[in-house]
Amino acid sequence: MGSSAHIRGRVRRAAGNLARSAPAQRVARRIVAASEPPSAPGSVDEGPGAPTADRAGALSDDRYTDEAPDIQATLDLFAGEWSTSVPTDTPTVSGPAPLADDPRVHWFIDVLGPIDGWSVLELGPLEGGHTAMLEAAGASVTAVEANHRAFLRCLLVKNLLDLRATFLFGEALGHMDNDIAAGTRHDAIVASGILYHLVDPVAAVTRMAALTDRIAIWTHVHDAETIARRRDLDGQFAEATTLTGAGRSYGGRVHLYADAPAASSFCGGGRPHSVWIDRDALLTLLADLGYDDVQVAFDEPDHQMGPALALTAVRSGI
Ligand SMILES: C[S@@+](CC[C@H](N)C(=O)[O-])C[C@H]1O[C@@H](n2cnc3c(N)ncnc32)[C@H](O)[C@@H]1O
Repeated sequence: MGSSAHIRGRVRRAAGNLARSAPAQRVARRIVAASEPPSAPGSVDEGPGAPTADRAGALSDDRYTDEAPDIQATLDLFAGEWSTSVPTDTPTVSGPAPLADDPRVHWFIDVLGPIDGWSVLELGPLEGGHTAMLEAAGASVTAVEANHRAFLRCLLVKNLLDLRATFLFGEALGHMDNDIAAGTRHDAIVASGILYHLVDPVAAVTRMAALTDRIAIWTHVHDAETIARRRDLDGQFAEATTLTGAGRSYGGRVHLYADAPAASSFCGGGRPHSVWIDRDALLTLLADLGYDDVQVAFDEPDHQMGPALALTAVRSGI
């Protein structure tokens, strides 16, 4: 299915669809308009492309397919947006990153687990790759995603991989506030790739601490020395800042997205900036919140995108 002949076939079909798309759209609009009750004058957009009398031909435009169900065509609803290499039964083309077989998540599960039967809250699932891994290890996952197109890709992956997980469209801190108000607890929270996209990562970790005794994080962090010698990164940062939580102040640095959000595959935060917490401040915050067993791995001060680390944080008295 992913062969070059198959891909050439799809390109030819796509070109054919494009060639017939404008008249087909006119026909489709005409038929829809004809089936609707008359509406108030001026309420219908009968612009310059208004349909003509021709009702012949297929009712097919870019909202419809004439083809039988096909996994690749389903993935192609989000062509160019995928980050995850979606593990389908037959070979398909999606994104470049093997997020459904991610060593960081294997490590989380090894250190925290076994997680069989656990309730896990995942923040920022993107396309459900980590969700699938957590579920394969036996967890019941609720995953909260704020980007609406990423959320729809999560649903598509849930369908393709037959996941039980619940994906929620919404903002992670608001969801945690709701969980706190409802008295909900989780066996673990997984927050991979999200803290450095938030304007207040301290508020996020503080909420996690109200909901669970076990946290797994992968994040970029600010480290003044490293950033100062990384000229490629230095321009992405503005002023140093402090965030408060757990009765103390924690240092960080304002990070600017610049043009990145314009890319169709952008999977960051919803604001023009975020705050990267200082590496030491993150570890201090977790200690202040009662996590006395903190393990660090994938510690990459020279990560291409900026200093990064994975950690698990556990309150050992549980
Ligand atoms: C860099 S991706 C990380 C994806 C995946 N968890 C991983 O580690 O590879 C960040 C994800 O978090 C989502 N996100 C960013 N800010 C969020 C927020 N405030 N609430 C919920 N999701 C958010 C983004 O839309 C994106 O899907």
